[in-house]
Amino acid sequence: MSTTPQHGARSRYDAEIRSTLQNIAQNSITTSLSQRFNEDADRAARYSADVGPLFVDYSKQHIDKDILAALCTLARDTSVPEQFAALRAGAHLNNTEDRATNYPSLRRWAVDGKSSDHATDAMYSSMAKLVAAVHSGELTGTTGKAFTDVVNIGIGGSDFGPRLICDALANQGDGILKAHFAANIDPSVITEILATVPAETTLFIVASKSFGTQETRSNANAARAWLSSTLNCKNVDQHFVAVTSKPSAAKNFGIKEELILCTPEWVGGRFSLWSSFGLAVALCFGMDNFRTMLQGGHAIDLHVEHTPLEDNVPVILGLLDVWYRNAWGISSQAVLPYEHHLKLLPIYLQQLFMESAGKSVSRDGEVLKYGTGGVIWGTEGTNGQHSFHQLLHQGSDTIPCDFIASLRTYNPVGEQHQNLIANCFSQSLVLMKGQSATEIQQTLIDEGMPSDEAGQLAQHKAMLGNRPSTTILMRQLDARALGALIALYEYRLFTASFVWGINPFDQWGVELGKQISQTLMGALSGDDVSSLDSSTTQLIARYQEAQKT
Ligand code: F6P
Repeated sequence: MSTTPQHGARSRYDAEIRSTLQNIAQNSITTSLSQRFNEDADRAARYSADVGPLFVDYSKQHIDKDILAALCTLARDTSVPEQFAALRAGAHLNNTEDRATNYPSLRRWAVDGKSSDHATDAMYSSMAKLVAAVHSGELTGTTGKAFTDVVNIGIGGSDFGPRLICDALANQGDGILKAHFAANIDPSVITEILATVPAETTLFIVASKSFGTQETRSNANAARAWLSSTLNCKNVDQHFVAVTSKPSAAKNFGIKEELILCTPEWVGGRFSLWSSFGLAVALCFGMDNFRTMLQGGHAIDLHVEHTPLEDNVPVILGLLDVWYRNAWGISSQAVLPYEHHLKLLPIYLQQLFMESAGKSVSRDGEVLKYGTGGVIWGTEGTNGQHSFHQLLHQGSDTIPCDFIASLRTYNPVGEQHQNLIANCFSQSLVLMKGQSATEIQQTLIDEGMPSDEAGQLAQHKAMLGNRPSTTILMRQLDARALGALIALYEYRLFTASFVWGINPFDQWGVELGKQISQTLMGALSGDDVSSLDSSTTQLIARYQEAQKT
């Protein structure tokens, strides 16, 4: 196992590099995006590239030759290339959990038929066998009927990935099995799913890396109880498979040993859709589509490995995140898919980025003096245009946006898809160019409005412009493009995290809430609350009161 690279660049980043970025920012703030386009006829081509099945246009970002050079120097000074090499070599970059982070090896399996380690190869081989057994009808429900529906019971990284992919591929025709997802512990979720699935032919995947997650265990227990009573059969084991890194815990929970898919411990939850946690995808859309998704991710692995930093698109996007966060003071980014079947992408990326980069200490435990990961949010276009785009265009904060679109639709209806694309492209154009109050005032005067009135209204209508965005296009939304898109975002996250010097692979911040919820379970049932604060005590009393009526 190779060792991790040195991480001694923190103080340098904190002082010297940050002030260099801020100086460049001071100068670049005075150069508008429109001006940059006017001054450089080749700007669009210079700051865009084909990356595997994706076309990425970042020319509407505040970037130029000098900024790019400074950002790439920053990446070199903070050992970004060395950390990518370490990641590929299987180094334990997840230092607080002493785990490897070799995600490219998972994608390599889909190309070479083998990865770099035996456990990974065994995982895919068991997964393929299980998928084949379900599809051939060799594995059936207790009454001998072939499975028609699959319910993925899991939360966080054991839910978002397969849920996103199954929704995104749904536009390519009916899945082999119908997918359902139960994540939240809110009883309405599992109740509503169980009310729609056919008991005899439903397979449940209990997806939990730790196999200790409260939400997942509760929903799985509810599903098992429902199945037993609906089928009037005590033994419904054939209906439950597990995906986990803790096979013994899955066995203790009552999952049959031969129906447990074991995932290597180093595969982190929010990066796990490349592993057997993608089982729902493979069951619903076939092992071939699952493999194609990994191959799409592999195309980005190759790009990242073999492209100089100055042309390395995911790296540049990650450096732009650092640029905006630390030199511009921006802490929010919008992800705006103009493709209905990418509507879950913002939620997926929320976990990927915010659970990974929501850190305030370096990987060595040093408290950081600069900002790290910000807020990721968004929704599908054009819906967002009738909601928060007002703030994107005229609000007091600059919020960089990602527009994502597929150039062909699976559901052509008149000119609707063309209209969707026109809206997508026009939003980034307007965010960049805006419209001045003077220009608007003149138009209003030309239309006959008195000059004073026109001047006043023009202030309200003026669009500041100069608001940055990236546009990511794919020819059509398919498994390969999806894999590439997700891997692109992963490398973007890694780049920014490596510059910041944080460990993007752990998530200690979610643990305390989990522990306290156990204490409060007791308090809600009547345990002593004297050690609790008065607000929490009052809320508990309200809950208890409501149970009496
Ligand atoms: O929310 C915290 C978290 O640990 C995520 O990182 C993870 O994806 C999720 O819980 C589910 O965990 P598990 O797969 O172990 O059930």
